[in-house]
Amino acid sequence: MLPIVEVSGLTKRFGDFTAVDGVSFEIRPGEILGLLGPNGAGKTTTFQMLLGLVTPTAGSIRMFGKDLVQHREEILSQVNFSSTYISMPYSLTAEENLWVTAKLYGLSDIARRIDEVVKKLEMEEFRHKLTRKLSSGQMTRLTLAKAILTEPKILFLDEPTASLDPDIAHKIRALLKDVRRSAGLSILYTSHNMREMEEMSDRIIFLQKGKVVAQGTVQEITERFGQRDLEEVFLKLARES
Ligand SMILES: Nc1ncnc2c1ncn2[C@@H]1O[C@H](COP(=O)(O)OP(=O)(O)OP(=O)(O)O)[C@@H](O)[C@H]1O
Ligand SMILES: [Mg+2]
Repeated sequence: MLPIVEVSGLTKRFGDFTAVDGVSFEIRPGEILGLLGPNGAGKTTTFQMLLGLVTPTAGSIRMFGKDLVQHREEILSQVNFSSTYISMPYSLTAEENLWVTAKLYGLSDIARRIDEVVKKLEMEEFRHKLTRKLSSGQMTRLTLAKAILTEPKILFLDEPTASLDPDIAHKIRALLKDVRRSAGLSILYTSHNMREMEEMSDRIIFLQKGKVVAQGTVQEITERFGQRDLEEVFLKLARES
């Protein structure tokens, strides 16, 4: 099967600092690829390039077999993302923000779709609250709702469960696996929770100082580094650097 995302030699320099340094990887159809790495490794910068928000210094990004620069609008209509850092109009209610996204993406049957995601993400008790009054976990759920509302083929999730309580985080992971299974979408995923990365990822890409230092399944990576689990691999790699 052709990869759905192909990243080759991706590089981003800010002045003379290299944040992402010749990164290459693929995401296969229906796969959850975990992007792992210490603070400042270049994960968010990579997401921003994949979303066309930051221009790469070098390298190429292809999605659905097409170049992102040349087919930006067509590609991005089939992509969505969630991140703890996005901001939304704060004077709108949670539900109004979902309407804005739905309109921007030209969705039909909007009221029904919004009801569905509100139910899936258990947002009933704050759907009519102003966005600026949401707690951080409610905000995270709203950004996830926005991401799945448009039924994307690729989801970029930058720390989607940060600030969720364990019960909601558990439900969100189950929901994402369910969405992946039913809609067959591909997901690029980051988290600083190693258990979660082990649970969610079909394969892992380990970034350090902008470079890929390991990749493979969790089992391949732990075996290669002679460690018991991903957390031990993480600590070993981070402390050796
Ligand atoms: N606009 C910018 N200008 C200069 N440096 C930047 C810019 N954006 C990011 N960086 C730097 O690039 C490096 C990578 O940052 P990035 O946000 O991609 O890391 P990350 O892997 O997402 O880390 P975290 O786990 O903390 O979220 C950091 O050293 C950061 O300071
Ligand atoms: Mg980040």
